[in-house]
Amino acid sequence: MRNVKAAVCIKCGAEYAAGNDTYTCKKCGGVLEIVYDYDYIKSQLNREKLAARKDFSIWRYLELLPIEEGSRLGPLRVGWSPLYKTEKLGEMLGLKNLYVKDDGINPTSSLKDRASAIAVARAFHAGKDTVACSSTGNAASSLAGGAAAMGLKSVIFVPERAPQGKVTQLLIFGATVISVKGNYEETFRLSAAAIEKYGWYNRNAAINPYLSEGKKTVSLEIAEQLGFKAPDYVAISVGDGCTIAGVWKGFKDLYAVGLIDKLPRLISVQAGGCCPVNRAIERGANGRPAPIEWMDENTLADSIAVGAPRNGDKALAAIQESNGITINVSDEEILAAMRLLGRSAGVFGEPAGVTGTAGLVKAAGQGLIPADALVVSVVTGNGLKDVVSAQKAASAASGTMAANGGASNLLRIAPDMALLTEEFSRRGIG
Ligand SMILES: Cc1ncc(COP(=O)(O)O)c(C=O)c1O
Ligand SMILES: [Zn+2]
Repeated sequence: MRNVKAAVCIKCGAEYAAGNDTYTCKKCGGVLEIVYDYDYIKSQLNREKLAARKDFSIWRYLELLPIEEGSRLGPLRVGWSPLYKTEKLGEMLGLKNLYVKDDGINPTSSLKDRASAIAVARAFHAGKDTVACSSTGNAASSLAGGAAAMGLKSVIFVPERAPQGKVTQLLIFGATVISVKGNYEETFRLSAAAIEKYGWYNRNAAINPYLSEGKKTVSLEIAEQLGFKAPDYVAISVGDGCTIAGVWKGFKDLYAVGLIDKLPRLISVQAGGCCPVNRAIERGANGRPAPIEWMDENTLADSIAVGAPRNGDKALAAIQESNGITINVSDEEILAAMRLLGRSAGVFGEPAGVTGTAGLVKAAGQGLIPADALVVSVVTGNGLKDVVSAQKAASAASGTMAANGGASNLLRIAPDMALLTEEFSRRGIG
């Protein structure tokens, strides 16, 4: 890979040759970061070249990705998700320049497709026939889908609480699914032992440094879609911490090659019932975060119910380096954000998918975001993945769940126009 210099430990700085799929530092156990030859990339890439490209997927940014020469790239169209200017939502939050990036439109309906596309390309190039990971659900479905499209087998470990929609995706994509009777931490440990034993390609995001590189494409797109401008703020939900780390890496890379001229502040949003990353920042002193302490996984936002974040160090660095803001939200605030996004923007996100927006709502309410700031909220997963939570969100609107069949704006009625007219006039509809 001419564009990649090395994989460097973020803790001790030890360097490893790029491309040999060393995942964690052999000296200190720290996670690695992929370091690019920015001068070389500058000589290969500029705004005009990018603007002329017809490939509207993550592969339009090949110069900034850790892909070996001659690799087979997955056929699924990952990335180039829409960036909507959400006027109505912006008005409601008092933000004049609010955008929502809907990553739920990816092939398996989450941002994780970006990372899995890199994983399957690298696995295929390395001659592996089986890929594996543990996941709260979305990394799993994205890996299974990406693997299926490349003719690879997948073995997937999920905690038993993973929503049915995500497990169903796995089964449809033909993965071997191990539903672990335990929490995410236990699931992760079992997967790590099995991957080691059987020698499968390891897509465990927190330890495979190539995967943040896929996730960072969301930032490359945001900047390009804004006309090579960095937003002032980017709100994103945080579980293991790989996604926020990827988002930060994307902006840093763009800045390093001169494609943007400033960096955004990140808004790291976690569920109050499981916020070990944010808590470490909040409890920090003298410009340093406190050590991450594990927490219970107490939130309905299953994808970010990560009590022992695997990529905490990278996430903490991203929040700190970006002069970021931490916001914790309740499950009720997450459900409210699902309704708000659906009703004001036509975007349907799963609970963890809209947690960034829930945090933005709170931050805006607290006056933390200037009205004219350029703000992007990334919706990281589609609402249909977890219909049970979506139904909760819909029916929580006015507490009429039992009375009205589960949703405040759902009318159950006999096929009778007179009854319908009566109901409409009672509700002021029409
Ligand atoms: C929809 C969704 N949002 C956010 C996240 C958080 O990403 P990370 O665990 O990398 O912090 C995940 C992770 O599974 C996810 O699936
Ligand atoms: Zn190290």
